[in-house]
Amino acid sequence: MTTVPLAGVIGAPIGHSKSPLLHGHWLRVLGIRGHYVPLDIAAEDLTTCLATLPRMGFRGVNVTIPHKEAVLPLAAEVSARARRIGAANTLTFGTGGFHADNTDGEGFMENLRQGAPGWDPAAGPALVLGAGGASRAVVVALQDAGVPEIRLCNRTLTRAQALAREFGAPVTVVDWADKAVAAGDAALLVNTTSLGMQGQSPLDLRPDALNPQALVTDIVYSPLETPLLQIARARGCRTVDGLGMLLHQAVPGFERWFGQRPSVTDELRAAVLAG
Ligand code: ATR
Repeated sequence: MTTVPLAGVIGAPIGHSKSPLLHGHWLRVLGIRGHYVPLDIAAEDLTTCLATLPRMGFRGVNVTIPHKEAVLPLAAEVSARARRIGAANTLTFGTGGFHADNTDGEGFMENLRQGAPGWDPAAGPALVLGAGGASRAVVVALQDAGVPEIRLCNRTLTRAQALAREFGAPVTVVDWADKAVAAGDAALLVNTTSLGMQGQSPLDLRPDALNPQALVTDIVYSPLETPLLQIARARGCRTVDGLGMLLHQAVPGFERWFGQRPSVTDELRAAVLAG
């Protein structure tokens, strides 16, 4: 068996994943003799795949759609945050099975800390648009960071209500039609919906709806300059784009599997954008 450390990303389809590009960049700049590979794994092969990869020399894998929830019941150990989010994106293989973690929220917070130095999560209410998987990770991270009120606003109201019930205080629910009102005094605005993504319609918010003191961020990173970020800048808000979340969520996995903590640099951003 090879002693070269291996890691990868499992999903279906997997061709679009930026993870091989960014882990490959870190392996190169850190001079590590290892490999990170994309693995197209169908749902019916998930259990076999997770039992086989460690025997092939894999230290761990990232997990993407459609396996992020399905890996939890297969894990020997699930981190508290992955359990609360209800999904995992980072698996680390051990002797008695694998550990499942979710680093999306950590990546989200690290992106804000680095992109908006001095930002204080306790400064005021947050408005989170969307109630899907990405929203769950963001809400858990904001809860843990001490945000005093998290207003959850989703096109399908019942989905936001279910999330608010599950997560409890300080999560509240705002009707989709009232998002402009809720944005008026929000200190943080986060878009976790697919609105604004390449080929999708933009969010229907006007600059004057936003609090000029707010920090505005989008988890969409294609395009980097989403319509929401353009609106926010026109209003004078501080903005942080979504690419950093993708890069920062990958850091803990790389460190666990390859033994060195990688850096999120401008060079990495450029490499991922070009790839
Ligand atoms: P992810 O895991 O990336 O969050 P998801 O679970 O499919 O993906 O969630 C997508 C989010 O974008 C949801 O909040 C969805 O709203 P609904 O719950 O009402 O479906 C939101 N979304 C997608 N298209 C939208 C649109 N055209 N208008 C408003 N919200 C939209």
